[in-house]
Amino acid sequence: MSLQRSEEVEEYVHQHPRSQEAYERARRVMPSGVAHDIRLMRPFPITLARASGARKWDVDGNEYIDYHMGSAALLLGHAHPEVMAAVREQLERGWHYAQPHQLEAEWGEWIQRLIPSVERLQFTNSGTEANMLALRLARTYTGKPRVLRFHGHFHGWDDYGMVGTNVPFERPASAGIPSGVVDSVVAIPANDPDLVAQTLDADPDIGTVILEPSGASWSTIPLRPGFLQALREITASRGRLLIFDEVITGFRWSPGGVQGRLGLRPDLTTMAKIASGGMPGGVVGGRADVMEVMAFSGQAHRDRYQRAYHAGTFNANPLAAAAAIVTLGHVATGEPHRHIDALAAQLRAGVNEAIKRLGISAVAYGEASSFHLYIGPRPAGTPIGETLWVEDAARLKGIPGELVAGVRRALQNRGVDLMSGIGGVLSTAHTAADVEQTIVAFEAALRAVRDERPDLFQ
Ligand SMILES: Cc1ncc(COP(=O)(O)O)c(C=O)c1O
Repeated sequence: MSLQRSEEVEEYVHQHPRSQEAYERARRVMPSGVAHDIRLMRPFPITLARASGARKWDVDGNEYIDYHMGSAALLLGHAHPEVMAAVREQLERGWHYAQPHQLEAEWGEWIQRLIPSVERLQFTNSGTEANMLALRLARTYTGKPRVLRFHGHFHGWDDYGMVGTNVPFERPASAGIPSGVVDSVVAIPANDPDLVAQTLDADPDIGTVILEPSGASWSTIPLRPGFLQALREITASRGRLLIFDEVITGFRWSPGGVQGRLGLRPDLTTMAKIASGGMPGGVVGGRADVMEVMAFSGQAHRDRYQRAYHAGTFNANPLAAAAAIVTLGHVATGEPHRHIDALAAQLRAGVNEAIKRLGISAVAYGEASSFHLYIGPRPAGTPIGETLWVEDAARLKGIPGELVAGVRRALQNRGVDLMSGIGGVLSTAHTAADVEQTIVAFEAALRAVRDERPDLFQ
């Protein structure tokens, strides 16, 4: 489908000639011109030149207040001086050994202290890899091949991760997924404890349940209060493992993630992003007896055939370790969360006031330091700009692409950049002044898109 030209699109093209050139060059290298599907933007994405604190600049010199924050990896903002100093110091000593080093245990001990359910852990290279390993550990421990997951929850881009992630949830979100993998994943709607219990009771081959404990895509599809507690009880009483994917929420929703906030104890937890100090990396941690399935026993037969194997050239990379140790030191104080959760609440409230002034059928919502915007039809009498009126995963994750891209582009034209969907996250580098400026930009952007494309707001 071709992109409908509009004043906003013209303005975007006008503001970004060097980004356009960069994209044309990149397209001759990468099939889509981007290195991650989420970076795709039409008519082309902005190409970045540098970033510092809560700001970033593109190759055309345009400045943005950044709510992408490295796909939520940067709790302390871009180029935090203490993180930079630690990384620089390690850089001088070599940035990659692919052998044991002294920072590994120190890094891991921070995670154990902050997340008590993590008795033992293992390092990976990304959140996707962390989930791949967690599922392998769970299958090894339970001896059961199948996993239960929830519509819209994102666990990475590997074959298992593609089942049940996007609308329509019945189909894998990518071509090329083997039917054996599809058959080993059962995807159901969240928020229905009875359905979970029935599904587990009906299928003894399901050994594991995995979810984003914020609700899908960092709270885009919120969970009902009590659902996580019910899930813990249902899985424990049936001897199934529960995995919290805290790749985004870990160290962001609270120093101990969602589980720290709610006092819950999953069997395994996957982490990445903040867990690796905003550097490439990932972590799986949890119950010692479950993690033990990857330990060497010293018995050749068991180690060859019963142990869960794991490898990775860059696992526990020293630069990531150095960045993580500094970052987790800040996390442990709880100070970052007090600051950014309050700012995020201020942003959501301000955008909701703007929504009311504009009279569009929308609401800003979110948890902790995240915010999302839902735009869509509502039942008669439902107030706008207050609470979310839909629970349906397909609707919450299915806002028309043209509308999502239109709002993102209109915000970029006004110096604000989001993460994905119509939403983003904050960092300790954001200020109340940034939030005020963002609310003004949101109001202008929503007005511009609504005036150009009223059909998208019905
Ligand atoms: C909840 C969740 N799990 C897993 C992943 C995959 O992590 P990565 O991109 O590091 O592979 C992501 C990525 O955004 C995520 O949000």
